[in-house]
Amino acid sequence: MNRSPFKIMIALALKLGRLVWAMAIAILIGSLGHLLASAVPVLGALAVAKMVGFDINISYAVIGILAVCSGAMRGVLRYFEQYFNHYIAFKLLATLRNSAFSSLRALDVARLESKKKGGLLTLLTADIETLETFYAHTLSPICIALLTSITGVVVVWSLAGAPMALVTLLSYLLVGVVTPYINHKSLNKTGAKYRDSFSEFNASFLDDIKGIREIVAYNAKDIKLREMQYRASELVAIARNHNMRSVRAAALTNLTISMMSIIALTVVIVSIEQQLSSMGGVIIGFVVILSTFGPVASLSALPSNLAHTFKSASRVLDLLSEMPDVSPVANGENIEFEYLDVKNLACGYKDKEIIKDATFSIKKGQTIALIGESGSGKTTILKALLRIREKNSGDILYNGIDISSINTDSLLDNVTLINQTPYIFDDTIEYNLKVAAPDATQTEIEAACARAAIHDLIIGLPQGYLTRAGMQGSCFSSGERKRIGLARAFLRKGNLILLDEPTSNVDAINEGIILSTLKELKKEKAVIIVSHNKSVAAFADIVLKLENGVLTPLNQD
Ligand SMILES: Nc1ncnc2c1ncn2[C@@H]1O[C@H](COP(=O)(O)OP(=O)(O)OP(=O)(O)O)[C@@H](O)[C@H]1O
Ligand SMILES: [Mg+2]
Repeated sequence: MNRSPFKIMIALALKLGRLVWAMAIAILIGSLGHLLASAVPVLGALAVAKMVGFDINISYAVIGILAVCSGAMRGVLRYFEQYFNHYIAFKLLATLRNSAFSSLRALDVARLESKKKGGLLTLLTADIETLETFYAHTLSPICIALLTSITGVVVVWSLAGAPMALVTLLSYLLVGVVTPYINHKSLNKTGAKYRDSFSEFNASFLDDIKGIREIVAYNAKDIKLREMQYRASELVAIARNHNMRSVRAAALTNLTISMMSIIALTVVIVSIEQQLSSMGGVIIGFVVILSTFGPVASLSALPSNLAHTFKSASRVLDLLSEMPDVSPVANGENIEFEYLDVKNLACGYKDKEIIKDATFSIKKGQTIALIGESGSGKTTILKALLRIREKNSGDILYNGIDISSINTDSLLDNVTLINQTPYIFDDTIEYNLKVAAPDATQTEIEAACARAAIHDLIIGLPQGYLTRAGMQGSCFSSGERKRIGLARAFLRKGNLILLDEPTSNVDAINEGIILSTLKELKKEKAVIIVSHNKSVAAFADIVLKLENGVLTPLNQD
């Protein structure tokens, strides 16, 4: 979604909720701190004015004590300002992370699949982290600059008259609005380019490390080295350009401050010569201008971060506003699977209907094989049966109850989908099996593995069931992974098992093992198997063929 920076700021500020009070305190404390910091040179000016003979009714001792107290208080207030800012920022980051996780949980699997996994990771970590900059270092500085500037203009007006107040206002606008805007224009693109190139560089470096075996096997190290040197030099050039611009931006801010100070001094001289205001007031007003640039000048440092923050914020807001395709059911009915009737089912993805007409029935103890060419929509049917995808029309009735009236938890407890490639977590084998049934006992786990013909293999491993499965199950062959998936299915109490290609990418031996396991499975449960494999089809009670979105019975010879 395209959002203007202003809209993003409003949306982020609205996320403050009750923390808005903490933010108000932070802003007040911050403004007071800055004003006290400005008070030190102003009190100094007061002392000098008294020394040169101006009529000032405060003793040197009081001026001295006030200056010391202002300085000390400035330190204390600065601490609390930062304390509140970070308290708000980190509380909000935690809340935002929770909201992001809830949004992710609500989104269906298909949508999550379509988001690049790397992108999601960036969103949950870096993007949300970046918002700290907004809450702790952007929002309150802007408000503080506004408050202190208004105070500055009012003080100068009362001390030195309208012309000086006008110069003060102009100075603040130039330093706090115009200069940051110019700097933003200059830094925005190079900053984004630098960050993009930096993350690209990291990604390609990571990719090369992952593919190190291929690089060695094809003796491609020279090419890779040249590639990396090229990328590195490109990154350095981009960084140099951005740094040069940053230095120029800082110089522009300082130059503006100096120019405005000179203009203010000119106005001071004219005001004294023309006797527009009292000499003491004008001089002290001048010191006020010089000493209150801090908050507005700090706004000049914002642009280089701001564009980046807004990009991150936009991605976070997109996720938070994303609506799930399928909303979970919580107040519906619970079922104990007995039979399933699918009638004239049509479903698919946003822009295309993949399944046009599917009708079949299955009950406990039956096995159906679904066959069809790659991309014909077999997996899509399985997703519809689990309501991972919403149907467009037709009926999916479990025990005669429409799928949309069944509680999501109950549906998931009754229907188990074993994916084409079961995911193996980087933990022990026991942990990987307990994913399917957290309360399973060791005996149950071993029995399930024995039925899935994987028990002997596991106890042969150095630490048996406590052996770590390695990153993404790298210790297991594709057939072994499928058998772990089947063991998970045995551990589930649900009576309908959906198997997506249980025998693809496995050799004849593993296929034989898996098929005999399936015979075990079909004895007690209803099984729908998606497969290209003729031998799988042979042992199913019913074989259905999916072609052009239409499901038809296949006559088996
Ligand atoms: N998330 C998605 N968004 C849009 N289209 C999708 C999505 N997932 C799958 N498709 C499309 O839907 C069609 C059916 O996909 P599906 O995965 O159901 O096929 P399949 O029969 O299981 O294929 P295979 O045998 O290769 O696993 C394909 O054309 C695919 O490109
Ligand atoms: Mg598939």
